[in-house]
Amino acid sequence: MFIGKGTAERIAELVIARNANLVIFDDDLTPAQQRNLEEICQVKIVDRTELILDIFAQRAKTKEGKLQVELAQLHYRLPRLTGRGVLMSRLGGGIGTRGPGETKLETDRRRIRDRIRYLEQAIDKIAIYRKQQRMRRVSSHIPLVALVGYTNAGKSTLFNALTDETVLVQDKLFATLDPTTRRIKLPNGEYILLSDTVGFIRKLPHDLVAAFRATLEEVRHADLLLHIVDASHPYKEDQIAAVEKVLKEIGIADKPIITVWNKSDTFVNPIETAERLKHKVANSVVISALEHRGFIELFNAIMQFFESRWLEIRLNIPHYRADVIANLYHIGQVETIKYLAKHIQVTARILAEDKHRFREFIRDSHRTIERL
Ligand code: GTP
Repeated sequence: MFIGKGTAERIAELVIARNANLVIFDDDLTPAQQRNLEEICQVKIVDRTELILDIFAQRAKTKEGKLQVELAQLHYRLPRLTGRGVLMSRLGGGIGTRGPGETKLETDRRRIRDRIRYLEQAIDKIAIYRKQQRMRRVSSHIPLVALVGYTNAGKSTLFNALTDETVLVQDKLFATLDPTTRRIKLPNGEYILLSDTVGFIRKLPHDLVAAFRATLEEVRHADLLLHIVDASHPYKEDQIAAVEKVLKEIGIADKPIITVWNKSDTFVNPIETAERLKHKVANSVVISALEHRGFIELFNAIMQFFESRWLEIRLNIPHYRADVIANLYHIGQVETIKYLAKHIQVTARILAEDKHRFREFIRDSHRTIERL
């Protein structure tokens, strides 16, 4: 962002006129811009990233979330430390000074670097633990569904409604910073794992995308995304685009998505609006997480998605290929096994994408349930 001297001076005049003690920019500033503005305005200048980091710092609940935010804050602060210490201590507390405190230059830089190393190691350890959990989950065959959406879209409300768990719900931005995963049973008796994730935001600072790498890993490993959209929001299109941009940034733009238009209880013409929204985006449903409306439609969409991925297969496997049967047990569900004289006859359910692994043994296959 370019700020000319004239603009800076106008801001300084406004600061005096309004008796402001803080200026917040809805964009990012370079460390030099921030320093110069602070000199001219004589108040603390906070840019978009710093503000978002500060909100995140207040909201983080779990150890992992706190470590991630602190790491992002330190990365942000390190290049901004020079020459700012005096003014910072003069300007004192408030937004942007929470978390790792402001300290004197040289020793503190070293201390910050040490702390960054420590945090990175701690976060790596958590990432390893998560990976182990994920591997256990993969071998349990329960599909993972992740809720994604712009901040305040209603993810936690939906998550609670579907899981009957009490996760913090607040009309505040970024109430959810740490992924929470619960198992839920669909009406057809099958289980899915539902994961609530961090709220996305327009121009999500890069430091944060990096810091929430581990959290977003959950989304990366999901089989299906439910994109929750606040359908009552005047800028819903922009919010959808912002979420899609983040998904692209973390390399998962092509994951299967069901769009969930939320807050239908606020529609003035509920039926017309619902129809219009459903036509607007393919594979979308309309719900009210608050009033538990539209859940049957949502469940149907989820079930349909997973059912269309499962195949019922019949295989003839030579007696000496017990490894194939072990493999079937590992990645699918073995339903019957008959030891015949010529071969072993097996029926099993596997994911369509695994079919190629058994091609030479398959005698018959069909989708378990046709699409509705
Ligand atoms: P982040 O944690 O910031 O990502 O937010 P979130 O997407 O988890 O949103 P959350 O569930 O915390 O809901 C945000 C606000 O929207 C709360 O005030 C909810 O009560 C409200 N809300 C959620 N669902 C509905 C709904 O169906 N209808 C209405 N009217 N309000 C809703």
